[in-house]
Amino acid sequence: MRQIYLSSPCMCGREMDFVQEAFDTNWVAPLGKNVNEFENIMKEYAGVEAAVAMNAGTAAIHMALRAVGVGQGDVVLCQSMTFSASANPIVYQNGTPVFIDSEPDTWNMSPEALERALKKYPNAKAVVVVHLYGTPAKMDEIIALCKEYNVALIEDAAEGLGGEYKGKKLGSFGDYAIFSFNGNKIITSSGGGMLVGNDTEKLKTVLKWITQSREPAPWYQHEELGYNYRMSNIVAGIGRGQMTVLDDHIEQKTNLYNKYLGEYADIPITMQPYLDNTKPNHWLSAATIDKGCDISPFAIMDRLKLENVETRPIWKPMHMQPYYKDCDYFKYDENCESVCEDIFTRGICLPSDFYPNMTPEEHNEIIKIIKGLFK
Ligand SMILES: Cc1ncc(COP(=O)(O)O)c(C=O)c1O
Repeated sequence: MRQIYLSSPCMCGREMDFVQEAFDTNWVAPLGKNVNEFENIMKEYAGVEAAVAMNAGTAAIHMALRAVGVGQGDVVLCQSMTFSASANPIVYQNGTPVFIDSEPDTWNMSPEALERALKKYPNAKAVVVVHLYGTPAKMDEIIALCKEYNVALIEDAAEGLGGEYKGKKLGSFGDYAIFSFNGNKIITSSGGGMLVGNDTEKLKTVLKWITQSREPAPWYQHEELGYNYRMSNIVAGIGRGQMTVLDDHIEQKTNLYNKYLGEYADIPITMQPYLDNTKPNHWLSAATIDKGCDISPFAIMDRLKLENVETRPIWKPMHMQPYYKDCDYFKYDENCESVCEDIFTRGICLPSDFYPNMTPEEHNEIIKIIKGLFK
């Protein structure tokens, strides 16, 4: 088979029009119309008051933590099953990460474990919830706990752009939310991120922070620590173009997930579940091999690698990472096996690429190879 990637870019919208416009008007740097337009589009799409474009989703999480006032020694409660970029910015701010297990219904932050963590750390400064692989977390329960304990909620929607929870877009629930446009996300700007929220004034301050904290003075005046985190006008042009095809991308990804779901009905593979009243964007089709089955996810990965097909393990939980091994961790059920450790051991991210990077025929072939392993 030709090389099939897990999830590769698909430049199939108006990306070149907007990039060309930046060249034609000589606004290749530093800012320009694309940045403003991309922010406006994202703001409207997510249904929030303000958006600030940055050079990475990681930078956006960092600035969200700074915006809610995380500083030296502040506890931040973070979903354990996620990419390291959800947690690292806590350390950038000299905060103390405490990790929270997943629940089995969505693989996201367990409200039960979060509640126990909040009882132990009632002065926690923030909660970082993730919509893993585009599947919405249990937002009602998590929001209620954040309100009860008066703790800020940061929604890491890096993987969740376009997904919905009870009819509302992901990214509209937290005090702040972030999106990522890195190379393999549901849309990409070649790299970049966006911080969104409803506190327009605070987001103006964030904009200052990410442009080296330059004060409005005739000379270079700096009263706070600054960063160089702004998105360029070229990158924003690509992002703007990709937003014209986001709905199509979600439809394609949803079809892939549903196809896997139907095909795996008679073999011991279970797709990542989601709640009835939610609409994942299905960025990646992830699955677990049923307990008791002697085929490991790595056997599937190795077999598909022979066919030039890329797969990935599920994110290794943060509390299992050597760097974070000393952090406190709260399990879904204190008396049982950790849910996210179990998902990690049995889980796999399946090829989830768009047409024409993966054709329906190639997808069928991949499914046939996987099913062949279970005969
Ligand atoms: C859950 C999660 N959070 C944060 C990030 C960081 O985004 P970026 O790569 O744009 O910095 C990513 C993706 O890379 C992610 O998957």
